[in-house]
Amino acid sequence: KNITLLPVIAGMNVYPEYIANGALVVDDVTGHIVDYGSNEAMLASYAQTNDQAPVKIHNYQDKLIMPGFIDTHVHYPQIDMMAAYGEQLLDWLNNYTFVTEANFADPKIAHDTAKFFLEQLLANGTTSAMVFSTSHPESAEAFFTESHRLNTRMITGNVLMDQNAPEHLCVSAEQSIKDAQDLIDKWHGRGRQHFAITPRFAITSTPKQLQLAGELYASYDTVYLQTHLAENRDEVAFVRKLYPNHKGYLDVYEDMGLLGRYTTLAHGIYLETSEYESLRETGTQIAHCPTSNLFLGSGLFDLPKTLSYTGVSIATDVGAGTSLSMLTTLNEAYKVQQLQSNQLSAHQGLYQITLGNVQSLVLDDKIGNFMPNKEADFVVIDMAATPLLRRRMAQTKTLDEQLFVLMMLGDDRVIKETVIAGVSRYKSRSL
Ligand code: GUN
Ligand code: FE
Repeated sequence: KNITLLPVIAGMNVYPEYIANGALVVDDVTGHIVDYGSNEAMLASYAQTNDQAPVKIHNYQDKLIMPGFIDTHVHYPQIDMMAAYGEQLLDWLNNYTFVTEANFADPKIAHDTAKFFLEQLLANGTTSAMVFSTSHPESAEAFFTESHRLNTRMITGNVLMDQNAPEHLCVSAEQSIKDAQDLIDKWHGRGRQHFAITPRFAITSTPKQLQLAGELYASYDTVYLQTHLAENRDEVAFVRKLYPNHKGYLDVYEDMGLLGRYTTLAHGIYLETSEYESLRETGTQIAHCPTSNLFLGSGLFDLPKTLSYTGVSIATDVGAGTSLSMLTTLNEAYKVQQLQSNQLSAHQGLYQITLGNVQSLVLDDKIGNFMPNKEADFVVIDMAATPLLRRRMAQTKTLDEQLFVLMMLGDDRVIKETVIAGVSRYKSRSL
């Protein structure tokens, strides 16, 4: 067993459970959490010398341990085109995204990029994510292979596109669903990997492809579905033109059987009341992507309103998003709400990027906090990682203030170590 000495944030359920001199006990054979509590209590219960199972003690003096961060919407191939200049959504897709995604026909590029992307997630303290690959099944295969090797809990799938995209990125309705089926058979539930049926959005799939995607979704209990919804005004107008006989954008997805508790729709900025009601009725989740919405000039997400109807997660949406850091993402989420006279507290934000996002993905029986038997995915944070943070933290008087400064000024530099199922997978150089 490993014992880590630390201040621990364990619960994060509305209010974080903070233990000033805490310890987390991890079984390094199973990779699961055994217990957490005060140093004294944990040492008394678990640190007795026992020749058969020596206890290793890691001392993270002055560090903060939190559950790993969760990113519910991100495109791994787009790490190669972050910060592409000058366009809004539809032109950005045509001029930059599709050009980059074409490279992923090459399995070597897919493997190299998946490996680099996963390393970057870990360096940012992100331990699980729901990820877009490209329309090449090889790209999802490469991502699963690299994630399985790291033993990270990840969700992805081949992107479904069969119209309104370059020909070489389109895969026919039948073939793309067959590719998805093959990937489900090979990867869904293997180790910590999950499959998501991944139509890009209503514009790039024919009705036939969306319908087959819905049928595939209906035939499984725990396969995910991810796509985009109402991110940009021109996009919404294009969908209305393609589907003049549907009530609106979300109605297209509902009609095709794409909504449900395992569905996460990115964005949802431009929705009618009846659409919010459909989200509630079907249990469909929304992923809010603040850095992306600002970067592409898409619009301001109404967090309180959406939360009053359904579950919301927070996500980076890299490469439209400008950072893989969930802390930086919270920083911009806070500003997006400020522009609408709403607040996002540090408690709410830090809860959201851990257990909140996990609940949205229906993974709360496995990860998200430090309850015994959950998988030991956690991050070691240095709240004073930079001279500025050290100086600013010294001015704080309460935990609330400290956590808010962490949320607003923290980024990958505060992540000192990232542990996946009890195994250290990333250490910052200075640790
Ligand atoms: N809508 C359809 N595809 C995409 C994508 O790759 N990124 C974003 N931000 N929106 C999309
Ligand atoms: Fe996206």
